[in-house]
Amino acid sequence: MVNLLPRIRTTVRILSVNIDHIATLRQARKESFPDPVQAATLVELGGADGITVHLRGDRRHINERDVELLRKTVKTELTVEMAATEEMTRKATRIRPDQVTLVPELRTEVTTSGGLNVVKRFSKLQPFARRLKRAGIRLSAFVEPDRAQIEAAARLGAGVVELNTDRYSRDKAKRARILAQMLDAAQFARELGMAVHAGHGLDYLNIVPILEMEIAEGFSIGFAIVARAVMTGLTEAVAEMKSLVEAYS
Ligand code: PXP
Repeated sequence: MVNLLPRIRTTVRILSVNIDHIATLRQARKESFPDPVQAATLVELGGADGITVHLRGDRRHINERDVELLRKTVKTELTVEMAATEEMTRKATRIRPDQVTLVPELRTEVTTSGGLNVVKRFSKLQPFARRLKRAGIRLSAFVEPDRAQIEAAARLGAGVVELNTDRYSRDKAKRARILAQMLDAAQFARELGMAVHAGHGLDYLNIVPILEMEIAEGFSIGFAIVARAVMTGLTEAVAEMKSLVEAYS
């Protein structure tokens, strides 16, 4: 008989769910709902190992109120993605999430559009990294799957490296080659004693090869989960309104 269950693995895989898009929906109407803080509780009920939010300079979705409340209510682990700036470092060292993931940030981008160039920006990043670590925050760097970037992230004091899967998720033709690069980068990061996470553009299908190849032990996923929640929840939401309308007919 064919065994349909994945073989038993010893490494624990963790999923941190990025809830920025709940806040994006709220901000589209400048409303107080849907509330990412409430969403975080449901996400945890669903079994997530962590909640991730990106506090952007332009506050296009998540704001300080969200991060402060999440710090008080998240029962798993709170990760804040942020640019290495004075403003964000001050906020992070005050709010003290469990993890900060340093990401590059461009005002014009729709979403994070590439890994952080730790090699090039090392001396600028170092003072911020030191302050975050001194505050007891675990440091992660979001980088391209590249040995030089990973080596620089290790020197920066990052205990976690998050491999950018954006190119992997978009470029199907080069997928095999990118997977090989990711595997090499992951093995190198582990030799340096770092934990390997992966994120950006991952969905219910394209995550499978990464799991199969045991490239990462942590995953940061947002858009695909929130998009699926809209679809799986839509029928029930409509049925509730329909029954309300029908009650008056
Ligand atoms: N990791 C990082 C560093 C990100 O910037 C993002 C997007 O905010 C994600 C993971 C999640 O990406 P997605 O929403 O495409 O799952």
